[in-house]
Amino acid sequence: DSVKERKTKLRRRSSPITPSMEPGNRLLIRGGRVVNADYSRTADVFVEDGVIRNVAPSLDVPEGTRVLDARGKLVIPGGIDPHTHMQIPFMGTRSIDDFYSGTRAAVAGGTTMILDFALPFNGESLLEAYRRWRGWADPKVCCDYSLHVGLTWWSSQVCEEMAELTKNHGVNSFKIFMAYKDFYMLRDSEMCAAVRQCKALGGLVMVHAENGDMVSEGVKEVLACGVTGPEGHTLSRPAELEAEATGRAVAIANQAGCPLYVVHVMSHEAADVVTAARNNGHIVFGEALAAGLGVDGTHCWNKDWRHAAAYVMSPPLRPDPRTPARLMDLLANDDLSLTATDNCTFTGEQKALGKDDFSKIPNGVNGLEDRLSIVWEKGVCSGKMDENRFVAVTSTTAAKIFNFYPRKGVIAVGSDADIVIWDPQMTRTISAKTHHHAVDFNIFEGMECHGVPLVTVAGGRVVYENGQLFVQPGAGKYIPRTCFGDFIYQRVRQMDIVRANQQVGVCRQPYSGPVVPVL
Ligand code: URP
Ligand code: ZN
Ligand code: ZN
Ligand code: ZN
Repeated sequence: DSVKERKTKLRRRSSPITPSMEPGNRLLIRGGRVVNADYSRTADVFVEDGVIRNVAPSLDVPEGTRVLDARGKLVIPGGIDPHTHMQIPFMGTRSIDDFYSGTRAAVAGGTTMILDFALPFNGESLLEAYRRWRGWADPKVCCDYSLHVGLTWWSSQVCEEMAELTKNHGVNSFKIFMAYKDFYMLRDSEMCAAVRQCKALGGLVMVHAENGDMVSEGVKEVLACGVTGPEGHTLSRPAELEAEATGRAVAIANQAGCPLYVVHVMSHEAADVVTAARNNGHIVFGEALAAGLGVDGTHCWNKDWRHAAAYVMSPPLRPDPRTPARLMDLLANDDLSLTATDNCTFTGEQKALGKDDFSKIPNGVNGLEDRLSIVWEKGVCSGKMDENRFVAVTSTTAAKIFNFYPRKGVIAVGSDADIVIWDPQMTRTISAKTHHHAVDFNIFEGMECHGVPLVTVAGGRVVYENGQLFVQPGAGKYIPRTCFGDFIYQRVRQMDIVRANQQVGVCRQPYSGPVVPVL
């Protein structure tokens, strides 16, 4: 890879028309249909110093401006993937896509920002973990990124470090695991304390919702039945356990008046819990994954072990083949709020750590490169959502929820120049042979999708064009985020006032009658 990159750099230097651009350079995206989450119109987009300077029809631009023809194409905000795990040490190995190969694949698929998770080991300082992840990511990222931090254990130190992270390190979101017992899992009482602290800081709680105690029992039962293959993973953690934990998370967050983000909603049972909570006025967001929208869990029953193991993730892809279409319906309808990938890739040899015991198969699948195409094909081509909803669920809503809108997630004057020229008619067939991930398998293998990114601009630089990458490791920036973002906290604040008004005692005369003696 590094040799290939060096060659690309050399080619770039000697080329008279350099496909890449330094941020100071100017770029005009001419005549495309500019699609934002609210509306679409035909316009030129002028970029300078990495920022969108003008959006209007028929712009005059300074001489020397590089022009990209977008006539007949869509011009959309670059995708934002709010859930990835690059090079994460996990289940005895480390995910194979690192911050370089991962973000390369991202921009090749039209995604220009990822939000990854710094996950401390049990007992490790949150700040240490955060610094560790920054150290891995900063020199490698080819597009901008940010970090959530995991509350993988609980103590007064963790509580204090949450405050430090929000105040001085741009973190406003924390992930809690209700699964991975004896590893990442918090008990309800710990979760309750964590949620309260998150609320006090004006942050957002993200939750992996599965009943970890019950999963652990399920694993024992399934293994005792003699099922050791990948299908055992699915059998050991049914949708009921996802739905139960989702409901519990909603209740715990609601008790603290804290907004909640349910990561990787994988079953219609859990999605129904999120929908009901939203209908009842709770501030809850449900995240759909490219994997959950694109494939089902029947693959785990494949006769080929390596194939079956490739689909092992948590919560599992559900074996009911109607699930992807159902999740897409809910996403189209805003019952689920946005899409991510949970990109956490392991090669066949890494998956083979669980060859004799499904509970040891490293959990995770790909998606980062293919998410936009999957959502276009399954969501837009199917008639379930329009182009504006597509932009909302692949970009804008993530920027709003995690509080960096309108810096990103929109094509508007003053926003970062993270832009994709999107061909809605063109098709491509997804394959591990052609993808840009480091992993040797693609869960969407053979799927033909309409919707292809022609050009990706990240931070004002053309990083992908006509199937070629022009990325530079370390060119991306860490995007710090502040707390109490209006998109979520306006409502939270008002609900606090309403609740406080409801929690007043009754003014009455003290009881003056007889009282039985205490036994
Ligand atoms: O299987 C998964 N989802 N792997 C990544 C870790 C997580 O739970 O998000
Ligand atoms: Zn998770
Ligand atoms: Zn994850
Ligand atoms: Zn199609």
